[in-house]
Amino acid sequence: MNHDRTGFDALDVARIRADFPILALQVNQHALVYLDNAASSQMPQQVIDRLVRYQTTQHANINRAVHTLSGIATNEYEAARRTLQQFIHAREDREVIFTSGTTDAINLVMHGYGRKFIGPGDEIILTTLEHHANIVPWQMLAEEKGAIIRVAPINDAGEVLMEAYQGLFNARTRFVGLTHVSNALGTVNPVKQMIATAHEHGVPVLVDGAQAAPHMAIDVQDLDCDFYAFSGHKLCGPTGIGILYGKAALLERMQPFKGGGDMILSVTFDKTTYNTIPHKFEAGTPPIAAAIGLAAAVDYLSGIGMQAISRQEQSLLEYATGRLQQLQGVRIIGTAAHKAAVLSFVIDGVHPHDIGTLLNEEGIAVRTGHHCAQPVMQRLGLPATSRASFAFYNTMAEVDALTAGIRAVQKVFL
Ligand code: ALA
Repeated sequence: MNHDRTGFDALDVARIRADFPILALQVNQHALVYLDNAASSQMPQQVIDRLVRYQTTQHANINRAVHTLSGIATNEYEAARRTLQQFIHAREDREVIFTSGTTDAINLVMHGYGRKFIGPGDEIILTTLEHHANIVPWQMLAEEKGAIIRVAPINDAGEVLMEAYQGLFNARTRFVGLTHVSNALGTVNPVKQMIATAHEHGVPVLVDGAQAAPHMAIDVQDLDCDFYAFSGHKLCGPTGIGILYGKAALLERMQPFKGGGDMILSVTFDKTTYNTIPHKFEAGTPPIAAAIGLAAAVDYLSGIGMQAISRQEQSLLEYATGRLQQLQGVRIIGTAAHKAAVLSFVIDGVHPHDIGTLLNEEGIAVRTGHHCAQPVMQRLGLPATSRASFAFYNTMAEVDALTAGIRAVQKVFL
């Protein structure tokens, strides 16, 4: 560790980067500059090794057999659940459900809670900042049930207007869905305060934490959220895994989302009795290896420390923001006072798709498009942006490479 200007221990990024084999790649004859971490982050060797160890020495199906390997796999899978419980400071491990990712987790809540407890004329509050994954399931529910979606607006900086949000609550409000961090703009919502508002009205809240969990320490008890969802692959873990946290009392009242093996206690053709939580929501063979890999990723991140990760990423964001602000013809989209390490931008006269293509020629990976958040783009009057999203393993030199790449793009379009 090095001491940085603020007196905190700065991360030894060079040492950390050595853990990530993919970061040593050359792309188009240039050193890879990977700035698409909001879409998917990279995996350290420690997680790769854990997956190999599982597959080569521990794999079998879980909860199904008395043989040795099945016992080992079951124990490792449940240990992974406890690791995730600790990572988000959930009260109990049965409040952690393994899903295939954030989208699956939100759909679970829509089917398990929404279809049971939301009816005609009931209202669901979302924000303009939501990813499609936290819009479309609720629209499907609203269509099916005759429910109504209310949307909390944002200002030009990309911050939710709190008075407008508070004004949406009424006697028909039944549910709130909030993103913790906007994937398109990086805005960090004051979710603790927004949850408290919802609870004053007796309304449960689901937090989409897909873009928050990789960047900050999450404490679901402190937030007092009712549900919290995130994905493994944005957290240096495998794809096809994520979690849904839910308060036990709510999960117990919900109906299952998927039916099948493992989610039952008994089945006859007359009647099926469902299993207890979390198993009630984990039908079929779960992604065992991915869950164990996610736990290894969480251990890796915890070893570095989520606060140290936050500080490193904030330094990158500040530096990159300053650099892009100095570039003529470049406009940063999303200027909230509180942001995570996401930097959306547009370049005058250049389509974002062309920006992405030309940056890629320099080995720089960014995402371009609407970022699965079309309502944000519509609100800001843009079809698309380019988005650089940082992880703790990125460097200031990579920010400089991005800046130089943007200059090169501008020259092509002069
Ligand atoms: N939701 C992911 C992103 O923002 C895929 O890129």
